[in-house]
Amino acid sequence: MLDPGIIDDGALAVAGGLIAAIGTGKEILSKWHAADKSDQEVIDAGGRVVCPGFVDPHTHVVYAGDRLNEFELKIKGASYLDIASAGGGIVSTVKATRDASVAELAGATLKRLDRMLSCGTTTCEIKTGYGLDSVTELRMLEAIANVHRDHPITVVPTFLAAHTFPPEYKANPEKYVNLVCDTMLSEAWKWFVSSPFHGKVPFFCDVFCETGAFSVSQTRKILETAKSLGYKLKAHVDQFTNLGGSRLSIELGATSIDHLDVISDEEVELLARSSTVGVVIPTENFSAGKTEFANARDLIDADCAVALSTDYNPGTAPCPSMPMAMAIACRYQKLSPSEALCAATINGAHAIGLSKNVGSLEVGKKADLLIIDAKDYRAMAYEFGSSLVSTVVKGGKVAL
Ligand code: NIG
Ligand code: FE
Repeated sequence: MLDPGIIDDGALAVAGGLIAAIGTGKEILSKWHAADKSDQEVIDAGGRVVCPGFVDPHTHVVYAGDRLNEFELKIKGASYLDIASAGGGIVSTVKATRDASVAELAGATLKRLDRMLSCGTTTCEIKTGYGLDSVTELRMLEAIANVHRDHPITVVPTFLAAHTFPPEYKANPEKYVNLVCDTMLSEAWKWFVSSPFHGKVPFFCDVFCETGAFSVSQTRKILETAKSLGYKLKAHVDQFTNLGGSRLSIELGATSIDHLDVISDEEVELLARSSTVGVVIPTENFSAGKTEFANARDLIDADCAVALSTDYNPGTAPCPSMPMAMAIACRYQKLSPSEALCAATINGAHAIGLSKNVGSLEVGKKADLLIIDAKDYRAMAYEFGSSLVSTVVKGGKVAL
């Protein structure tokens, strides 16, 4: 992670949307030409940084409504419980999302994806989890498929029916766990098999393992059922309380475990010895006005694979920008700019099972690249509050 692999005066050749060659400008420009000159396009980055498009491995960008009242209540000191009793929190987004059509959900999501693209994200994961009933969760999946069709960003879907307990099951949470395991997971898997994602990207199942959300034993039941159906696994763990969710998810072979603010030392060791990626989310802490962050420095020093994400969602992280996540990670989690770039690109790709396709500039990978308005890559994490991304090339085509 300490070596970004810089090629001075570099260039790359792109054909059929993939990287065909990479090297110095001299090499590439002398060797590579299209058979038909009219098919050839040369982009001169003018000595500026060219880097892989960002891979954001954890977002909740399909939702309706907003949480602006909650934002103001929090500033005035309201607690999570105050907000929930005033009709806020995840459940208020669930209400608005249940009332929205697929077209409305997809329309709102496309705008969020535009903002992510303008900050340099070319691949992202998107979770369901604001439906919490069969009909709305499937509608959210449809909205994810629609934005995948209509937007240049490559999208990976995640089924998060276990985000929290829906209000109608509050008194009987076990019944909801059974509904997820006996019905919703197989319905969503059936949807995936006939969706445009099948055979192209993995389908993940995620659970929010936390006090007040799903216990470790409920999380085990859901993840084991999902695994047996063919899902790849993710989990929200150790955001507020250390329950053992990290240990469980690593044991089950999760592709990633996300948040990790209060992961134990033993679990850090287990993570380091596993092929699971640890996703840290400093935008969430920043958004909550916290000064404590997941100890990403220790995770990296212990040899864990660490990725960054925005967690873009209406409640805890209304942030589309991976460079913002990098800026916070460098300052508060003590990542070097090179580590932050690696965490925002190739490690993010590993966290969603797409490391063979995206996340680095290598021959055979998708030509997803950014021209950064700077001559030194460290500027990406150094400057914040605006986007230094001046051109986005997605699958070999200029997307922005
Ligand atoms: O990743 N941890 C739980 N879920 C989201 C929050 C979603 C919301 O508040 O709407 C998160 O922080
Ligand atoms: Fe999340």
